[in-house]
Amino acid sequence: MYEALKQRRAIRQYKTTPIDKHLIETLLEVATFAPNDRNREPWHFYVLQGEALNKYEEVATDYLTERFPTKPNLIESSLKVIQTTPLVIIVTSEKVENDEAATKDNVFAVCSAIMSMWLMAEELGLGFVWRTRGIGLVHDDRLHSFIGASSNEQVVGTLFIGYPEEEDLKEKKRTSFEVKTTWL
Ligand SMILES: Cc1cc2nc3c(=O)[nH]c(=O)nc-3n(C[C@H](O)[C@H](O)[C@H](O)COP(=O)(O)O)c2cc1C
Repeated sequence: MYEALKQRRAIRQYKTTPIDKHLIETLLEVATFAPNDRNREPWHFYVLQGEALNKYEEVATDYLTERFPTKPNLIESSLKVIQTTPLVIIVTSEKVENDEAATKDNVFAVCSAIMSMWLMAEELGLGFVWRTRGIGLVHDDRLHSFIGASSNEQVVGTLFIGYPEEEDLKEKKRTSFEVKTTWL
């Protein structure tokens, strides 16, 4: 477990090789094992491949041209990411009516589920990154309506997944836990 946690990396470049359905199902299954308050199981997964990714690209084009009107290179490189990613999974969390604390707890549970998927992906030889900004589109309503999420769902993560292309990963840098810890 120590090595798995230490070696997990955000992988952003993939081969275009499609991913077997049973591997995708394994990622989705382990997600459902995550801890979650009162067993509300607040997650929902939207799996995008092939034609669905072309539509996602259209939504992203719309968003990026509006957001970065003077940066055509940024738009082009962002869209290339979608074009070269074989699998995207968008994960939502259920809101709980009139209960902000439970709604937050649901998001925490969904985050745990995403982390389980990330570690499982590595075990299956898949590269994985959780995106929120830019083409992650988590903070834009267009993604919400594109996937057909209901008004009581909130998008927590857009997961980009594929067989890793050779990548020169820099050494992982982290501040020591000693600096981040207060012993009371
Ligand atoms: C909530 C969350 C949002 C993230 N959003 C993005 C993103 O929008 N784009 C991106 O390239 N990486 C994103 N990442 C990945 C981080 O950049 C990455 O985890 C960080 O650089 C540390 O690298 P490591 O995961 O290899 O340890 C996100 C990670 C998390 C947990």
